[in-house]
Amino acid sequence: MKSLYEYQIDQDSIGKNVTIAGWVNKRRDHGGVIFIDLRVSNNIIQIVFNPENKDSFIIAERLRSEYVVEVSGVVRERSKENINEKLISGNVELVVDKIKLLNESKTPPFSINDLSVNEDQRLKYRYIDMRGEQLQKNIHLRSKLIESIRNFFYSHDFIDIETPILTKTTPEGARDYLVPSRMHPGDFFALPQSPQIFKQTLMIGGINKYFQIARCFRDEDLRADRQPEFTQLDVELAFADENIIAELIEKLFKKVFKDILNEDIGIFEKISYSDALEKYGCDKPDLRNPLTLLDIKELVNKVEFKVFSDHVNKEDSRIVALKAPGGGKLSRKEIDELTQLVISCGAKGLAYLKCDCISDYDNGITSPIKKFLGPDVVNNIIKLTNSKDGDIIFFSADKVNIVNTSMSTLIKKLGENLDLIKPDWKFLWVTDYPLFEKIDGSNSLTSLHHPFTSPAHDEDLNLDDVLNIKSRAYDLVLNGNEIGGGSIRIHNPSIQRKVFELLKLSQDEIESKFGFFIEALSYGCPPHGGIAFGIDRLAMLLLEANSIRDVIAFPKTQSSSCLLTNAPSSISDLQLDELSLKIESTDE
Ligand code: AMO
Ligand code: AMP
Repeated sequence: MKSLYEYQIDQDSIGKNVTIAGWVNKRRDHGGVIFIDLRVSNNIIQIVFNPENKDSFIIAERLRSEYVVEVSGVVRERSKENINEKLISGNVELVVDKIKLLNESKTPPFSINDLSVNEDQRLKYRYIDMRGEQLQKNIHLRSKLIESIRNFFYSHDFIDIETPILTKTTPEGARDYLVPSRMHPGDFFALPQSPQIFKQTLMIGGINKYFQIARCFRDEDLRADRQPEFTQLDVELAFADENIIAELIEKLFKKVFKDILNEDIGIFEKISYSDALEKYGCDKPDLRNPLTLLDIKELVNKVEFKVFSDHVNKEDSRIVALKAPGGGKLSRKEIDELTQLVISCGAKGLAYLKCDCISDYDNGITSPIKKFLGPDVVNNIIKLTNSKDGDIIFFSADKVNIVNTSMSTLIKKLGENLDLIKPDWKFLWVTDYPLFEKIDGSNSLTSLHHPFTSPAHDEDLNLDDVLNIKSRAYDLVLNGNEIGGGSIRIHNPSIQRKVFELLKLSQDEIESKFGFFIEALSYGCPPHGGIAFGIDRLAMLLLEANSIRDVIAFPKTQSSSCLLTNAPSSISDLQLDELSLKIESTDE
């Protein structure tokens, strides 16, 4: 049964008596005749009020934007000069017989569909913004995306299970959101950063195929693609290896892209973490971008240019060249801007060779470092990078992570500036991640994924150089965005304990945080693995939205607050007492 709001009129409705309800999008008084554009479902319908119909006309004179009305009348063809080709009902109109005013509206703070309104206003009046085309489209598509995903998993015999929100810490690398317990004064629940521990416990519980559209909470610094509260597609399978999981997920995305965009996606590429860093400087390269890094330490090891010679013999340094086809047209100002960009990523400068005419060394090649390199090295670099007239080659020399961060940022920027990225969907599996990495600025270790990730070989845990231990983790990258990550898990309790020990957790900490889980692993846990995807990020990519906030009905701001409800907010003294909490002012 359709509601009056869903009623549409078109050519076939001409001559019929219909009743429709919706919002007044706009009222136009044409001296004698009043028109309103009625917003219904995803359509605008023209409604005509004639003065002869006094009762209706009096109400029509009072109508303002966003009033809610129900109108009945006969549909007629519009006059030729009045036809609006863009609308489904653009060649018909409804001549009102009766109108019911269902509700009035205050003057809205901004017009529906006004894209110039600042985001804070839009978030405060989210319900007004939501009436506009853009959010309606985004919210509908997101629902379709979830429908497509659920149908896929139901049809592959997966079981949809909800896991607790009030729980214990689930380490995914962010801070926890904590909830004080009234019943247990001084104790706190943590909101889940992901359902990781529960989905593994489900495998121990004999649920072999699990999925969930799960809410996750992470107190971390926000970016355009991060929210403190977000949604994951969470999946776990018992008796599975990397290949089984990859096959399942590729099948899922083929269906999702067909269902949502009616597009057939191509093959999923695969690259190891170390190859990705070497070739692209990052572990989430955009394969639509053809630019890659080439190591040139060998080529420049005799060059007497301090910028290079300082790094030639250092193990933890890299010297790379990056050829940008057609980059010869970049102006001095544009190169200066690119230099500032890499400097903001920690680099000290951005040397380059502009190849206007390769055969003319003296006049056809311009570079601030040509005099240091000399013709032989310049020619070797041109050969290695396969540069042609009109190209530019950039250089970076520094500590490996500075070169990688700054040059991967440069690759992205050049791809955009030189229009090298063509619309496409490029999926990439990144594999063979290290199990651990160093925490910035300290000697402590952290898990690159999470501490439940299996090492590639259990015996590797005894290696002296723990940073060299490989894991069975994988990420899925789409057009340069990490959309999902997962791993084959540790299923042996002593291996799990050993990983916690390598992470320098004390026996007490292991017991209090994860004792229950190690205990569960010791009752015949099957080998298992899984993955989780950011639904919000996926929706954002499918919709080509600029911000994750545009695909979430009620998002938080960059500073993690909700402008609609003004959350977070203070609580009463009574509530504090009940929770055995006391707020101490941190003001000096
Ligand atoms: P991970 O931490 O990689 O893995 O998260 C999986 C995916 O969730 C999305 N995501 C986010 N989206 C929006 N805002 C955030 N703050 C945010 N953080 C993460 C990303 C990411 O790829 N339990 C593991 C998965 C597993 O091992 O199965 C996990 O949560 O798209
Ligand atoms: P300088 O000798 O410092 O004037 O630098 C000469 C050129 O090398 C300039 O174009 C700098 O931008 C560039 N440059 C300086 N440091 C680096 C670096 N670490 N990597 C790449 N280029 C650099």
